[in-house]
Amino acid sequence: MSEESKPPRYASWTAGKLPLPELAEMKRRGEKIVMVTAYDAPSARLADAAGVDLILVGDSSGMVVHGRESTVPVTLDEILFMTQWVTRGAKRPLVLADMPFGSYEESDEQAVRNAIRLVKEGGADGVKLERGGTSVARARAIVGAGVPVMGHVGLTPQTATVLGGFKAQGRTAERARQLVEDALALEAAGCFAIVLEAVPAAVARAVTRALAVPAIGIGAGPDTDGQVLVWHDMLGFYEGRAPRFVKRYAELGDAIAEALERYASEVRSGAFPEERHTYGMPEEERAAFEALLAGG
Ligand code: KIV
Repeated sequence: MSEESKPPRYASWTAGKLPLPELAEMKRRGEKIVMVTAYDAPSARLADAAGVDLILVGDSSGMVVHGRESTVPVTLDEILFMTQWVTRGAKRPLVLADMPFGSYEESDEQAVRNAIRLVKEGGADGVKLERGGTSVARARAIVGAGVPVMGHVGLTPQTATVLGGFKAQGRTAERARQLVEDALALEAAGCFAIVLEAVPAAVARAVTRALAVPAIGIGAGPDTDGQVLVWHDMLGFYEGRAPRFVKRYAELGDAIAEALERYASEVRSGAFPEERHTYGMPEEERAAFEALLAGG
């Protein structure tokens, strides 16, 4: 594809995979980075076609796809399978696999081993892990093994119980300062970007300015270097109460429910299937078949 015919919707178009260093360049140029979660190949294909830059195979899947109450029970194998599906569908976007709870906390060795599985077996371009504190050393170890790492601070759903639930973080001066420190420590450990989840806009702005690497916000106001939303939340495909920061760009749940109701009603009335949905057979074969049946 020539330079002239590049899709205009792409913030920073390159043939093939978006190079990782391009993200820092986008921050420098003030171009917003677009990130969304996806959990299967068709969704990844749609995100790619829409010009999304980063796709996260998030452990949010535990809640929005698998119907759990939290992300805590999600396993490495679940993320691994979904990463394989997503990497088959996404060509240009960088695909990041979320490291689920329990897959990196024990030791640097455990973290490196599992991150490598997500890259080697899942095809991920990088991984994401949550929190500052002990996760900083894990991030450093994984980066040291050659795997790009995205950090995640603020509301970290894997440890929501410790944080007092799914609620905004960094709302006192001291907690906000801690958040800046965590983000800077993750950057110093080699993270190529940091997710800021559910933090006041003023705090997100300060963290974004303090970081050289991109800050990707979710519920963090307009001043981060990019935004991420969860697929099912933004497409109206999730029955639970969506957080305040979600904007619904479609009502797919309603569209699917309506389609299923029409299908059920047409099956019951006999309106489906019609002639055009049905296979025929040559008339002489049909006649011969009936003769066979009649002849016992
Ligand atoms: O699991 C996930 O989807 C996430 C995003 C909310 C950033 O971590």
